[in-house]
Amino acid sequence: MTGGDEAGRATALDDRPAIDPPAWFVEQANVSESSVYDRFEREWPDCWRRAADLLEWHEPPTDVLRGADGLPFEWFPDGTLNASHTCIDRHLPERKNQLALIWEGHVGESRSYTYRELYREVNAVAAALRGKGVEADDVVTIYLPNVPELPVVMLACVRLGVIHNVVFAGFSANALAERLERTGSSLLVTCDGYYRRGSAVAQKNKADNARIAVERDVDVVVLDRLGLDVHLGEGYDDYDRLRAEYDGETVDPVPRDATDTLFRIYTSGTTGQPKAVDHTTGGYLSHVAWTSHAVLDVKPEDTYWCSADIGWITGHSYIVYGPLALGTTTVLYNGTPDHPEKDRIWEIVEEYAVDVFYTAPTAIRAFMKWGERHPASHDLSSLRLLGTVGEPIDEPAWRWYREHIGGGECPVVDTWWQTETGAILLSTLPGVDAMKPGAAGKPLPGIEMGVVDSAGEPVGTGNAGELVVTRPWPGMPQSLRTGEGWGAAAARGEGWHYSPEDGATVDGDGYLTLLGRIDDAINVAGRRFSTMELESAIASVDGVVEAAVVGADHATTGTAVYAYVSPTGTCAEADLQMRIERAVESAIGSVAVPEAVVFTPELPKTRSGKVMRRLLTAVANGEALGDISALRNPEILGELQSATPE
Ligand code: WTA
Repeated sequence: MTGGDEAGRATALDDRPAIDPPAWFVEQANVSESSVYDRFEREWPDCWRRAADLLEWHEPPTDVLRGADGLPFEWFPDGTLNASHTCIDRHLPERKNQLALIWEGHVGESRSYTYRELYREVNAVAAALRGKGVEADDVVTIYLPNVPELPVVMLACVRLGVIHNVVFAGFSANALAERLERTGSSLLVTCDGYYRRGSAVAQKNKADNARIAVERDVDVVVLDRLGLDVHLGEGYDDYDRLRAEYDGETVDPVPRDATDTLFRIYTSGTTGQPKAVDHTTGGYLSHVAWTSHAVLDVKPEDTYWCSADIGWITGHSYIVYGPLALGTTTVLYNGTPDHPEKDRIWEIVEEYAVDVFYTAPTAIRAFMKWGERHPASHDLSSLRLLGTVGEPIDEPAWRWYREHIGGGECPVVDTWWQTETGAILLSTLPGVDAMKPGAAGKPLPGIEMGVVDSAGEPVGTGNAGELVVTRPWPGMPQSLRTGEGWGAAAARGEGWHYSPEDGATVDGDGYLTLLGRIDDAINVAGRRFSTMELESAIASVDGVVEAAVVGADHATTGTAVYAYVSPTGTCAEADLQMRIERAVESAIGSVAVPEAVVFTPELPKTRSGKVMRRLLTAVANGEALGDISALRNPEILGELQSATPE
């Protein structure tokens, strides 16, 4: 692995123009020594002690990794700590009056919390949750949008050793019910509703419906966000009343083993069932703190903004846990980037003098479309570093971001990771490495990854293959740690490895370029949806025989869902389309509603009766169809092509 040394940079220039980080950035960077790669390599796995040292432990670990040669992997096995303590309490002596959280809602609506105030909130809510009878290792489900109470409840849970399961607020009642059912949660925290593009969206009625659908008794705590005066019957509590009752109380943080679960989050699995991902207390927190420090260059005196939704892993790791573990000021925004105006994001950056900004390529493509005059009308000179995550960022978007947001100066980190990895595994180190627009970078120090062919052999430089992670990492989830659940994914070929199911190429400097998912998940605006989940929702609609969904290139969201549907022919297509859209909205949420529904008398199938998704993907993208010899019904292709929107 080259470590940003001179030889490495020279070859980098041969492959693709590489851009060195500016000297002013390197000088102040948290990590700027190029020897960091070699040191981590030499000292692996002890190198990860450097990450653990960013936290405050109850019992510091004496061991870094047990089981380095096989399962189960135990990171920092004899260490104990509490996440709420390390994210809040331990900062109090030095920075109790520094802002921990700045929240911005719709225009004119904002709130902020110092570390001292956050401490008070979290303690009161932890006492209230304890009063509701929850105990260490119980699961509490949280169904809130980006409001300050969301991180407060998360941190209150972990203070008690309670495992939180945050469900994205845009998910439907059915999706919530399924998660409530599967986690065995008996407590749900939600709100009456919230604003989206300035209009009120109801939330509590979705929670009510989910509660009815679950057999177990579920108590519900409802935050009054909109003043909707919702009815709170038996089993319901008002958040503010409950919190006020416990105001001023403190709760001792419960020490947890490093290997205990910190939280659960669900992601789209290849099988169609959402897959539970449980992250550990010590390994995960060390990994998010270290990557916030080394990759996002976060410093306590910074104002740092990750524009994600806490309902997804990015928000967990890089709005809540990473930045708070480092004692910085984290910004939380509940709103869209174009409401009320298309300069909303830049207005917030200017107002709070944001130092580090982390967003998704889909947002950057929207900013590009809206035009540079929006960022140009604000002073963005406070920005020092820009980051992206969620999907590949193409070179023009990368350059636009650096030029128009970063003033042509800020380093840009293209960070690759997943719900399963918990934290960043692949990126340049902005204080060390040259950047190559379009290529994410190298595996971080201490991380070992490769690109292999179907036989598990490394592909040569420039050849496409499958990404594999060949050594355990601290942020690995429980199921990979113990080998339960994902045994097959983790045990293919010689030795241990994990398959993230992404395609990639590698260049002569070890820089990886990501090529997208190789499983059947569709990544829309940086969010993964399983084709199976979408297809079952569509197939459940009366009047549908069968359906196949594929991803089609989309100018803004990167990929859009195209649904190919074969109808029974007994109902009008317009009506059927509406019911299909509603079914997807109800099963998953409006985020997953197909961009196009194409009706076809038959789906293209192989002689053995398998739907040829590859062909549908080509049709949806207006590409050449390639080899169609396996196709049983080639006569439908012309029709499919003409029915697919451009
Ligand atoms: C994709 C989001 C290319 C990838 C943190 C991965 C990326 C999936 C990048 C995980 C990137 C994420 N370049 N592709 N920088 N970052 N991805 O679980 O396909 O919602 O497997 O986690 O997003 O999505 P998830």
